[in-house]
Amino acid sequence: MKLNIALLAGDGIGPEVIDQAVKVSNAIATKFNHEISWTPALTGAAAIDDCGEPYPDSTHAVCEAADAVLFGAIGHPRFDNDPSAKVRPEQGLLKMRQKLGLFANVRPTFTFPSLIDKSPLKRERIEGTDLIILRELTGGVYFGERGRKDDGNTAFDTMTYKREEITRLAKKGFELAMTRGKKLCCVDKANVLESSRLWRETVQAMEKDYPEVEVSYEFVDAVAMRLVQWPKAYDVIITANLFGDILTDEASVISGSMGLMPSASVGEKTKLYEPIHGSYPQAAGKDIANPLATVLSAAMLFEDFGLTEEAALIRSVVNKSLAEGIVTEDLAEGGKAYKTSEVGDWLAKNI
Ligand code: IPM
Ligand code: MN
Repeated sequence: MKLNIALLAGDGIGPEVIDQAVKVSNAIATKFNHEISWTPALTGAAAIDDCGEPYPDSTHAVCEAADAVLFGAIGHPRFDNDPSAKVRPEQGLLKMRQKLGLFANVRPTFTFPSLIDKSPLKRERIEGTDLIILRELTGGVYFGERGRKDDGNTAFDTMTYKREEITRLAKKGFELAMTRGKKLCCVDKANVLESSRLWRETVQAMEKDYPEVEVSYEFVDAVAMRLVQWPKAYDVIITANLFGDILTDEASVISGSMGLMPSASVGEKTKLYEPIHGSYPQAAGKDIANPLATVLSAAMLFEDFGLTEEAALIRSVVNKSLAEGIVTEDLAEGGKAYKTSEVGDWLAKNI
């Protein structure tokens, strides 16, 4: 297969972890006779420095023309510490999600056999966890009206949802549930928020189209608790943008590290694959960040193109690296900590 992949390394540790995913993907291409062409483009702080825009039109053109986008991370402390900054790297990520119509973010949570005992959660609670959080990605409070009033002394952000935005996300959720455990949980705050009541109403109306799917409705605060207590109770969770952002960071504890969790964003155009973690600026340039979330995001990419054997091989060498202790410092626990690039080299060699 020929694949043209847009490569958006972004900021912080982005370029380092992306490099490893490229190494691994190229090793896969060699082994299975595929041809991958990588087209790099700028996003985030790197793009702001280049042209004043965190997601320039030229980058969008590269993404639109590609078969898929592999994305690193976005964010730079120089903007975090300056609340008055007019242009922020994160705006690039949001603009990219919106312009590519990536309304659904697929964030799987699963465990790695060799890491289960390293989790702060008990083995019997987490072993066998296999859930997917389907986070709405182009609506809600991330994109609602926001601003200041009262001479800047009052600030507001609005959580707005249209029925059609909920329907298209929920449809993906139902369809995904049909391919798995046939359980769907709609996570909201319908006891307080009107937008959540529209979520419930919309999802309830869709239940009859998927009679085999067992649907439940839970409040997000309760799910924040249950997710780490009984993660095995969940199969597919559908939820609004902000709730999904928070719950997926929480869910990463089940797997063992933020540095392990991949994601795919899907919607109307080119799909995008990215780790759920941020740009971890403290580690930038030090060759210490965990590249596995990005490597596993590449596995999700291959899988979506029907290359299941390729994806399975990536996952199996990742498991092997964890079992053999070829890990970065976040997972080393006093043992030898390998460099980001060493982990990438090891994975590519083992493929
Ligand atoms: C994520 C990140 C982003 C988000 C940030 C960097 C804007 O936390 O992908 O989860 O909040 O969506
Ligand atoms: Mn997040």
